[in-house]
Amino acid sequence: MSGVKPVVWVLLTGLFWIWSEVEGLGVNWGTMASHKLDPKTVVQMMKDNGINKVKLFDTDASTMSALAGTGIEVMIAIPNDQLADMNDYGRAKKFVQRNITRYNFNGGVDIKYVAVGNEPFLTSYNGSFSKTTFPALQNIQNAINEAGLGDKIKATVPSNADVYGSPTSNPVPSAGRFRPDINDLMVQMVQFLAQNNAPFTVNIYPFLSLYGNDHFPIDFAFFDGAPQPVVDNGIQYTNVFDANYDTLVSALKAAGYGDMPIIVGEVGWPTDGDKNANINMAYRFYNGLLPRLASNRGTPLRPGAIDVYLFGFIDEDAKSIAPGSFERHWGIFRYDGQPKFAMDLSGRGQNTFLVPAQNVRYQEKRWCQFNPDAKDLSKLGENINYACTFADCTPLGYGSSCNGLDANGNASYAFNAYFQVQNQNEMACNFQGLAMVTTQNISTPTCSFNIQIVGTYSSASRASVYLFVYLIVLAVLAL
Ligand SMILES: *[C@@H]1O[C@H](CO)[C@@H](O)[C@H](O)[C@H]1NC(C)=O
Ligand SMILES: *[C@@H]1O[C@H](CO)[C@@H](O)[C@H](O)[C@H]1NC(C)=O
Ligand SMILES: *[C@@H]1O[C@H](CO)[C@@H](O)[C@H](O)[C@H]1NC(C)=O
Ligand SMILES: *[C@@H]1O[C@H](CO)[C@@H](O)[C@H](O)[C@H]1NC(C)=O
Repeated sequence: MSGVKPVVWVLLTGLFWIWSEVEGLGVNWGTMASHKLDPKTVVQMMKDNGINKVKLFDTDASTMSALAGTGIEVMIAIPNDQLADMNDYGRAKKFVQRNITRYNFNGGVDIKYVAVGNEPFLTSYNGSFSKTTFPALQNIQNAINEAGLGDKIKATVPSNADVYGSPTSNPVPSAGRFRPDINDLMVQMVQFLAQNNAPFTVNIYPFLSLYGNDHFPIDFAFFDGAPQPVVDNGIQYTNVFDANYDTLVSALKAAGYGDMPIIVGEVGWPTDGDKNANINMAYRFYNGLLPRLASNRGTPLRPGAIDVYLFGFIDEDAKSIAPGSFERHWGIFRYDGQPKFAMDLSGRGQNTFLVPAQNVRYQEKRWCQFNPDAKDLSKLGENINYACTFADCTPLGYGSSCNGLDANGNASYAFNAYFQVQNQNEMACNFQGLAMVTTQNISTPTCSFNIQIVGTYSSASRASVYLFVYLIVLAVLAL
């Protein structure tokens, strides 16, 4: 750096500042948690950490009211189970009126995108959404256009990265094509997106390349070099993120839209629930990804800034673990809004922690543990299963943070998780005499027995916020 003239340095820093302010990183805000932080607290966390874009999984009224007036750019969403409804144009228009136009006022919500479905073409869905997604996309964008907001708000379909690939005979990014079974559909969809100047949205998960594939070269999942790069027409790929992104660029090119803007709707690394999901690996991943993004280098086939939403912002302890136990541990923040590891979103690689949530209220310092005086242990397994059905026990699994506990520790973990989910109701710490409440912190050095937060997000308050926003909108309309 000593060779760089100060004026150039100032200029570069200025450019960087412009990038970080204008483009900026987005985050995914999912809410499948037993105890949710107050939406206002979450929005404040975004502001405190300079995050100016957020992607949601629905269009919940209390979330929207917390985002109103903040200037944070929002991608709202229509869940997969509502796609069929949106095949009716009248219904789609209603969605646009109620969930988009309604927030479109000075001091409202800065909606920029509508995610139509969430990874609807996953092969594991067996084509359940392949007929309803495209008509829903068309209806929503057309209704937005009809409402006069088409220049500002674009509908897009966040797709999983398995909608495209390269043939096994030629596994290089330049051979990327859409999946044969949905190729015609994808091409039509891409044409429609292009007509509306809308972006293609894709979720790219280097972690999933590694998960369940012990032959995957581990260094290729990160950004600090791989001993055996993939060579494609003289281009060396040293990480799967670039290779995957460029496979999409090639697929779009083959469909006739090689310049279509791309949004990476989700990228991240989980911190528990699998042998490759831990703080060290997540730190390594983000510590490579963030400087890469800040450099604006782009990928070999698409140089320039990459538009990215990190997944996810906060852990979600009630998320489905059908894909794997790691699903509940994607947050760059814990369930209580505390950062998990050092992370510098500016990409300058500083060893700093993100700003935590403010004014979080915890329940009392009470845990539920296995009762060492219990006589009859015949129903222990049954009771643990019960607790783990209604609370999150994924840290107990193989390769996870609490896997080393003994049998009693396992029971305590399960009982405490359930007790906390039940807001420390004493009756939730009995388990047929197998459990007891304690004020001793029973955490171990590697395994955290959590105290839940006081969730402020009940359906009653949601309804009242809804009403409140509605009244404000009426008042504004009346002016
Ligand atoms: C608005 O969004 C909410 C939350 O996603 C959804 O439940 C509701 O059905 C939507 N409203 C309309 C009229 O589509
Ligand atoms: C897809 O098909 C498989 C095998 O037939 C089945 O086990 C699975 O439940 C199906 N999934 C969905 C979402 O329909
Ligand atoms: C604790 O539970 C985990 C996950 O269910 C299991 O793999 C492990 O064997 C259990 N440990 C003991 C000592 O029972
Ligand atoms: C319990 O102990 C763990 C490990 O020492 C610590 O991280 C955690 O903050 C403690 N919990 C409370 C509620 O004091």
